[in-house]
Amino acid sequence: MARAFAPGKCILFGEHAVVYGQPAVAVSINAGVEICVKRSDSWVLEGMPFEPSRHPHISHILDDIFQYSGVPLEIDVKSGLFSAAGLGSSAALSNAMGAALHELTNPGEKLDLISLARMGHSAEANAQKGRASPTDTATSALGGCIVVSGNRVKGAEHVFDAKLETPDGSRTWSISRAVIPEIDDVWLVLGFTGIGSPTGKMVAGVSKLLKEDPQKMVEIEAIGAITNAGLKALSEGHMEGVGEAMDACHERLRNIGVSCPELESLITAAKGHSLGAKLTGAGGGGCMVSLTREPKRVAECIEIAGGRPLISKFSSGGARILKQEN
Ligand code: PMV
Repeated sequence: MARAFAPGKCILFGEHAVVYGQPAVAVSINAGVEICVKRSDSWVLEGMPFEPSRHPHISHILDDIFQYSGVPLEIDVKSGLFSAAGLGSSAALSNAMGAALHELTNPGEKLDLISLARMGHSAEANAQKGRASPTDTATSALGGCIVVSGNRVKGAEHVFDAKLETPDGSRTWSISRAVIPEIDDVWLVLGFTGIGSPTGKMVAGVSKLLKEDPQKMVEIEAIGAITNAGLKALSEGHMEGVGEAMDACHERLRNIGVSCPELESLITAAKGHSLGAKLTGAGGGGCMVSLTREPKRVAECIEIAGGRPLISKFSSGGARILKQEN
């Protein structure tokens, strides 16, 4: 038997602009996906017969990455993430599966987090018809604060480059780790609107807007500049500055049409007790995030406004093998 955990993620700055080569900054959160795999007599997922075509991430990791041909497995999944909410639940699922299978097939052998991030990215790309940025999978695998960009970013430690052949041509990304001080007096509170929002549709909407109104590219460039300023504030541990950059980023995201009334209402509710608050991920539903010194207060405000809150430490560890329970 082997067990592994991989965290979800939250984008602090740069969503949508990253599609146009600007940098994005994401942090891992406490909540994530835990997977337990056990050798068994038949293939079982969550107590039901496993149907590979319904679970493309898991079957890609089993068949294409590990080329697993051993005895059938019983797979159990525990998720602490809202799904289709921009928290990277499919990336966490892929990474947890990769890590658990690594432990089952190579017990005790060190888990290489860069290989795991590549594995997860490949599973996401396979499930999303070749279009997937490595943001979610890299942040979930490596943990901490991760910068994803078309070019190398100053002030961040380069970790690896990701490349993908997509239906729109070849894409490359530089993945770096932001060097940030220990932050233990500020939390993230995620607020789920309850509306699932497909990333592909939101990305296509922004692309249409930019074609119809090329002037809107100033918003994308502004998000890039705000991301760099937010990253600088973060590396100095200046959390008020990080919050201001989050607010500014949200204004620009609103200007490109990716907010919605439900996100606005949760952001307004959280604002009074936040250093900054914005939508996180693709928008159009999904989640908002507040940066705060009063996480319980903000969680209450989100709940009263009709959202589902989730409190997380500012940035936590990446994917890991879990010890066997006796
Ligand atoms: O899938 P989400 O909700 O975490 O958002 C992805 C971020 C986008 O910039 C909108 C898309 C992308 O591929 O980077």
